[in-house]
Amino acid sequence: MAMAVAIALAVATLIDNVAFAHGNVTPQPIDASELKQIGKDWLSENPYRGDPKAIAIGASGYNQNCARCHGLEVISGGIAPDLRYLETGKTGDEWFLERIRHGKKNAEGTTIMPAFEGIFSQEAMWAIRAYLESKHEE
Ligand code: HEC
Repeated sequence: MAMAVAIALAVATLIDNVAFAHGNVTPQPIDASELKQIGKDWLSENPYRGDPKAIAIGASGYNQNCARCHGLEVISGGIAPDLRYLETGKTGDEWFLERIRHGKKNAEGTTIMPAFEGIFSQEAMWAIRAYLESKHEE
């Protein structure tokens, strides 16, 4: 009997750990307070393009929150698009903001890319975009 309980507990712990590894990953906060603050309205173009401080903040934010799917240093292992090839400039900015704010669900309604609106500040989002653009490849 004690054995059965021990096994049940071990299995429950295992299931918990697996669930944690796959979903429910707590976003890591990104402090972008050192950057020029933007305000409430959503911009359609990255105000920090090429800014070294934004790129540094974005690099850390990206590697803690996006790399597990999109790959360390923006080199995708194939489970999510390789963001080095995201279009540069304003067109890429708009697409980037759409995805990071709203995420993406598949046809069955399962989240395949989490939404980050309400989690990261707009400043933090554009800092990540500045980092991504610094890694751009054709
Ligand atoms: C749980 C995995 C996961 C995480 C975490 C994740 N993404 Fe994604 N992302 C995806 C997937 C999958 C797609 C492809 C969605 C589709 O099919 O349109 C995607 C798409 C994108 C796209 C559009 C790419 C394109 O070529 O259309 C951008 C931009 C993007 N993600 C940025 C980010 C950023 C920035 C972060 C971190 C803040 C992040 N993602 C975190 C899985 C993830």
